[in-house]
Amino acid sequence: MARRESGTRETNGEHIRLSGVGLSYFTPREETEALRDVELSIGKGEFISIVGPSGCGKSTLLSLVSGMLKPTKGKVSIDGAEVTGPSAKVGYMLQHDHLFEWRDVLGNVTVGAEIRRMEKAAAKRRGAELLERYGLGDFIRHAPVQLSGGMRQRVALIRTLVAEPDILLLDEPFSALDYQTRLTLSEEVFHIIKDQGKTAVLVTHDLSEAISMADRVMVMSKRPSTISAVHNIVFDEGEGLSPWSKRQAAKYHDYFNAIWKELDDHAVSAL
Ligand SMILES: Nc1ncnc2c1ncn2[C@@H]1O[C@H](COP(=O)(O)OP(=O)(O)OP(=O)(O)O)[C@@H](O)[C@H]1O
Ligand SMILES: [Mg+2]
Repeated sequence: MARRESGTRETNGEHIRLSGVGLSYFTPREETEALRDVELSIGKGEFISIVGPSGCGKSTLLSLVSGMLKPTKGKVSIDGAEVTGPSAKVGYMLQHDHLFEWRDVLGNVTVGAEIRRMEKAAAKRRGAELLERYGLGDFIRHAPVQLSGGMRQRVALIRTLVAEPDILLLDEPFSALDYQTRLTLSEEVFHIIKDQGKTAVLVTHDLSEAISMADRVMVMSKRPSTISAVHNIVFDEGEGLSPWSKRQAAKYHDYFNAIWKELDDHAVSAL
């Protein structure tokens, strides 16, 4: 399948690379070919969104970057080194926060660091500092049950940041939240990720989220899935717009309509 590409954008080197990647799941009864011929290159500090029909392989792609899955074909590399298993360079944020109810907020944000055997005092210091910086300083000793859904997701993001990954993989991190909370939280998470200078890959079913947060939006086809289109998101107002301002920009609707049509195309061609 020929890949469509709209616009151009400078990228900062090659941080994450997927070349000729294929992934099939095998069960005793069947083989499911999730991904085929995926080519993807992501620069340092870039924010990428991935959209595509349900079950096409978006979470699978993130698992490959995280090293939790090995490709059946092709190669995944980070900074030129082949990914052979999970590494401290990569952090994950999921739809469900998976906070431990029996630990307080600070105890939760240091969990990942403890697993990675970081020095405890340093992890606590960094955790407390990040909670303070991102508006949760008054909740350090609170139990997760005392927090709102949006606050819990912010704690989950800070837990990932305490372990100091270079790359953040976000798999529908806002989808369990109400609309108003997800708007606010996507804005906050965007600023935190930029402030921390991380490279981010966001999987979402929400096109407005995908367009307003990312430098590039990748559209995936139905299974066996590949990247069918790439949209370099560039606004006439220039760089540095917040997601909220991007949603107001004139070109936002053009991106939305173009990507919506591509997703629609796949749905129709599958009938
Ligand atoms: N562990 C597994 N064993 C067998 N098949 C799997 C496994 N995990 C995923 N699959 C299959 O691989 C395909 C891709 O799954 P994946 O979870 O990556 O899709 P997705 O794009 O993230 O979907 P969604 O948007 O619904 O989250 C699906 O057909 C799914 O049924
Ligand atoms: Mg998924």
